[in-house]
Amino acid sequence: MLQRSNIVSPEEELQDFYEELRAQHVTPAWISGGVGVEPKSKAVPYVWHWRDLRPQAMRAAQLVGTEQAERRVLRLHNPELAGSSASNTLVANIQIVMPGEIARAHRHSPSALRFIIEGQGGYTVVNGSCIPMSPGDLVLTPNWTWHDHANDTDAPMIWLDGLDTPLVRMLEAGFYEQYGEEAQPVGEGADPSMAKYGAGGLRPAWEPAPTARYSPLWHYPLSQARATLERLAAEEVGSPFDGVILEYTNPLTGGPAMPTIACYIQLLQPGEHTQTHRQVCCTNYHVIEGSGYSLVGGRQLDWEDKDVFTVPTWTFHEHVNTGSRPAFLFSFTDAPVMKALDLYREEAQG
Ligand SMILES: [Fe+2]
Repeated sequence: MLQRSNIVSPEEELQDFYEELRAQHVTPAWISGGVGVEPKSKAVPYVWHWRDLRPQAMRAAQLVGTEQAERRVLRLHNPELAGSSASNTLVANIQIVMPGEIARAHRHSPSALRFIIEGQGGYTVVNGSCIPMSPGDLVLTPNWTWHDHANDTDAPMIWLDGLDTPLVRMLEAGFYEQYGEEAQPVGEGADPSMAKYGAGGLRPAWEPAPTARYSPLWHYPLSQARATLERLAAEEVGSPFDGVILEYTNPLTGGPAMPTIACYIQLLQPGEHTQTHRQVCCTNYHVIEGSGYSLVGGRQLDWEDKDVFTVPTWTFHEHVNTGSRPAFLFSFTDAPVMKALDLYREEAQG
């Protein structure tokens, strides 16, 4: 009869064996603890308040120039993660560009998004296309696209940066290149990616469809997203877990905005308290406007206008709008990575 073997060895002999293995850079797998039955993130639920972040961004702008700092960025780091990122695979940073300043052109294999928090005007140039930046707008600077930022207004421009840098670093796939000039020459037309792809459902037929896996649309204005959210909210539709939630899609495929990052915007009605669920993906949230709290893995994260908070992977969460106005949340996740690798799951509590 076949059965599991039971071999009892003297402790001393085992330790000698392990020592020998260590010297050969080999590890016996049976001594390193049990198998995890489900994901347990090292990251913890956490909220960064705008009332703390904004003064420090202004201070950074006084102390450091864009000559010294390639990007004047404050990294929000999760209290329990070794690196300086808000979540396991995605950073959430605050970047500030002062009146008259530029942040010079470069490109990198990590993909990035900008979600504008403060400042009217200013622009980002992506592969020669000039994209205007207004509060609540989402601007993409996908994998290996040239990008530089400029503030030609008389007030600070502040935005949230989201990048997949920790993921790309873990995969040891990071490339970086400096552009030959300080800034890219700006091509014809105002906001060309909007002009060509901003209508959704329609694309220029005189040129071949772009083959890049990221969205050819690089600018998603808040005005469009907000109008759609409000229209749907009036019809009382939406998710029991997220209220009225929309994904920013690649208009050619209907898929995520970028291969590694999915972006969402949601509306929570005054008094709304969502049901609880969890997913295999980490999520960073930015409160566009509104006040309330989220219960995340047993912690209460109180939030109001412009705060940033993070929900680690496979952590139960629910959202509560305690205010008298609708709350609007922007969020971005690594769900496309999980889905591409067949690792994605979600479940409701109870
Ligand atoms: Fe960059």
